[in-house]
Amino acid sequence: MSAGAATVMRPRNDLRPCHDVRPRNDPGQYDDLVAEWWKPRGAFEMLHWIAAARAALVPTATRPGAMLLDIGCGGGVLAPHIADKGYRHVGVDVSATAAATARGRGIRVVRADAARLPVADEVADVVVAGELLEHVTDLDGVLAEAVRVLRPGGPLVIDTIANTWWGRLSTITVGERIPAGPPPRLHDGRLFVDRDRLVAVCARHGVRLMLRGLRPSVPDYLRWLAGRQANARMVPVRSTAGLFQAYGVKA
Ligand SMILES: C[S@@+](CC[C@H](N)C(=O)[O-])C[C@H]1O[C@@H](n2cnc3c(N)ncnc32)[C@H](O)[C@@H]1O
Repeated sequence: MSAGAATVMRPRNDLRPCHDVRPRNDPGQYDDLVAEWWKPRGAFEMLHWIAAARAALVPTATRPGAMLLDIGCGGGVLAPHIADKGYRHVGVDVSATAAATARGRGIRVVRADAARLPVADEVADVVVAGELLEHVTDLDGVLAEAVRVLRPGGPLVIDTIANTWWGRLSTITVGERIPAGPPPRLHDGRLFVDRDRLVAVCARHGVRLMLRGLRPSVPDYLRWLAGRQANARMVPVRSTAGLFQAYGVKA
C-alpha cells in the first residue's frame, strides 16, 4: 500500500491537520481506492446503484456490433447492467488502475482524457458519461467530444451532480459522512455541473437534454444499512438540484 493510501484510509472523524491527505478531486485517489471498485459495501458502493439506473436509460442495441462508449468508465461498474443489451462496451478513462480493473470486467478500455477522445467521429451508437462531469475542468470540451463521437440518432446518457448548495451538502457535507456516500475528498464542489450550461452546450452540438433528479430509495437504503439487502434502487425525483440524470438523442 502506498503512503497516499495510508493517509486516505484515516477514519472519517479524524481531525488531524490534513496537509498529508490528497487534495479534493485528486486523480490519485482512484489508485488508492482501486481495491474498492468491486468490493461489496466498498467505497464505491453507490456507484453500483447509480450504474443500474443509468443502464435503464440505455436502449437495446439495434444492429450487430453496436458500440457503447463509456466515458470515464472507472472500474467498469456499468458492465453487468448492460451485458444483455448487445453492445461492444468500450471505455475511456485517464486512470491506469481503473482502466485495468475495467478490462478485468470485459470492457475494452482506452486510456485518454475525455476532452480529447482518440475515437473517430460518429462511431458510437450510445455514449454514456456516468459520474464523470463533476470531476472535469473542461466541461464544454468533454461535452463536445461526447457528442462528436456519437452517431446521429444515438442517445447521450449522463449522470452527475448539480452545482448548487444542495448538490454540495448532499454529496460532500453529508454524503461523505454516511454509509454508501462517496469517499472523502473524491469531489470538489467547485467542479459540480451548472445545469443550464450543460443543457445549452449539448443543444449547441445537437443534443436536446431532458433532466431528472435521482436519489436512493429510502426503504431500500434502510434495508441495505441493516444488512437485509445487497443494494438499493435509485429512484427518480423531480428536483435536479443534487444528483441528476440527463438524456438526449443526437439530431
Ligand atoms: C466517480 S468515477 C465514475 C466511474 C464510472 N463512470 C462509474 O460510474 O462507476 C469517475 C471516473 O472518471 C475518470 N476521469 C476523471 N476525469 C477524467 C478525464 N478528464 N478523462 C477521462 N476520465 C476521467 C476517473 O479516473 C474515474 O475513473
